[in-house]
Amino acid sequence: MSDQSYTPNSKFGKWFNDRLPLLTLSKHLQDYPTPKNLNYWWTFGGILTFCLIAQIVTGLILAMHYVAHADMAFASVEHIMRNVNYGWLIRYVHANGASMFFLAVYIHIFRSLYYGSYKSPREIIWILGMIIYLLMMMAAFMGYVLPWGQMSFWGATVITNLFSAIPIVGESITTWLWGGYSVGNPTLTRFFSLHYLIPFLILGLVVLHIWALHVPGNNNPIGIELKKPSKDTVPFHPYIVIKDLFALLIFLIIFAFFVFYSPNILGHADNYIEANPMVTPAHIVPEWYLLPFYAILRSVPDKLFGVIAMFSSLIVLVALPWLDTSKVRSAIFRPLYKQFYWFLVADVIILGYMGAMPAEGTYLLIARVATTYYFIHFLIILPVLGYKEKTIDVPLSIAEPVLGGSVDPSLTKSKTKKI
Ligand code: HEM
Repeated sequence: MSDQSYTPNSKFGKWFNDRLPLLTLSKHLQDYPTPKNLNYWWTFGGILTFCLIAQIVTGLILAMHYVAHADMAFASVEHIMRNVNYGWLIRYVHANGASMFFLAVYIHIFRSLYYGSYKSPREIIWILGMIIYLLMMMAAFMGYVLPWGQMSFWGATVITNLFSAIPIVGESITTWLWGGYSVGNPTLTRFFSLHYLIPFLILGLVVLHIWALHVPGNNNPIGIELKKPSKDTVPFHPYIVIKDLFALLIFLIIFAFFVFYSPNILGHADNYIEANPMVTPAHIVPEWYLLPFYAILRSVPDKLFGVIAMFSSLIVLVALPWLDTSKVRSAIFRPLYKQFYWFLVADVIILGYMGAMPAEGTYLLIARVATTYYFIHFLIILPVLGYKEKTIDVPLSIAEPVLGGSVDPSLTKSKTKKI
C-alpha cells in the first residue's frame, strides 16, 4: 500500500483506522497513481465492476420470486414478467445484463491483447481474469437453464453430455451431474444453487484481480513501466473516476436501448416454449457470447477431441504471458503483431458466426480453418514473432518522446528501428 503513513483527521477516524485501516485503503484508492495516457479502452474494468454488481442485485430480486422446480420454473418466470412489480424490468436487465457483461469482458480482454497487459509483471492479474472469465461462462450457462424453456433444457442436455466423451468414467460423471438419467429437476435445482454461488466467487476474485493490479499499477497504451507517482501519472480521484463514470453513462445508454427497445433480440425465441424432453428444437445454439467455443467444439469430428480442443482454446489463453515472447508490450510498437492481432479478431468473429450456423458443408470447413488459425496464432505466430519482429523504438516516459524522443535501452536491440 502506497500510503501507510496516512492519519485520518478526526479522532474517531484515527481510532477506527488504527483498528481496521479502511480509511488508509480508501486514501490509497483515491491517490492511486494512474498513467495519464490511458484511453477509453481502460474504462471497461470499472464498467465490468458495475455489471457484476448489477447482476448480483437484479439476481437477488429475481431469486425472491423464482421457483427452482422443473414443474414451476417456467411459470414462475412468467409470473415475474406479468405480476411482480417491475418484474419485467428486473428480468430484462438481468438477461440483457449478461450479454452486456460479456460484451464488456470481450473488449477488456482484447484491450489486454492489444496493449500486452498480460505480460510480466501482470501475469497474475491476467490469470485471475481468465478464472473470472471461466466462472462467468459457467454462471451464464447455468442461468440460461433456469427459465426452463426449450433452449434451456436442450442446451443443458448438449453441454452436460460432453462429459460423457471422457473415457471410462464419462457416463458416470454425466449421470452424477444430472442427478438422474437425463436433465431433470435435480439438475435444475443444483444449477440454481451454483448460479447463485458463482457471482460471489467472481466478486472475491475481482477483489484479488484489482489487488494484483495495484501492485505493479496499470499498464498503458505505450506499454512502458512508469515511475509512480511522477509527471506521467495522475491521481485516480478525480481524474479516472470522472472518466470512468462518463464511459459508464454511454455504456448504460446502449444497455438501456436493449432493455427497453429490443429486450429479446439477443435471446432465442424457443426459450419462450416450456421445456419438453420429447421435442428437440431444430437448431440448438448457445447464447452469442459462447458461440466461438461452440464452433471450435463442433469443428472437430471426434467428440472427445472436440471437448479437448474447446478447453485447449482457453488453456492457450492462460499460457499467453509465456507464449508471447516479445519484450515490447504494446502493439503500437509492434507493426507485425498489430496485423496478426486484427487477424485474430476477425478469426474469433468468424468462429462466432460459424457457431450459429449448422455444422455442415462450407460452414464446417470455414469453422475448421478458423479453429486451426486460432491455435496457430497462439502456438506458432506469437512465439516466433517475439524473436523475428522488428519493433519500433519505445519511449522512456509518456512525456518524454514529445520533448526528447529517448528510447528504453533495455528494449533497444539491433532489431528495433527508429520511428
Ligand atoms: C468481472 C470481470 C472483471 C472485472 C470486474 C475486472 C476489473 C478490472 C479492473 C477494474 C481493472 C483496471 C482498469 C482496467 O484496466 O480496465 C482491470 C484490469 C485488467 N484486467 Fe480485468 N476485470 C474482469 C475480468 C477480466 C478478464 C476476464 C481478464 C482477462 C482474461 C482481465 C484482464 C485484465 C488485465 C490484464 C488487466 C490489467 C490492465 C492494465 O494493467 O492496465 N480482466 N480489470
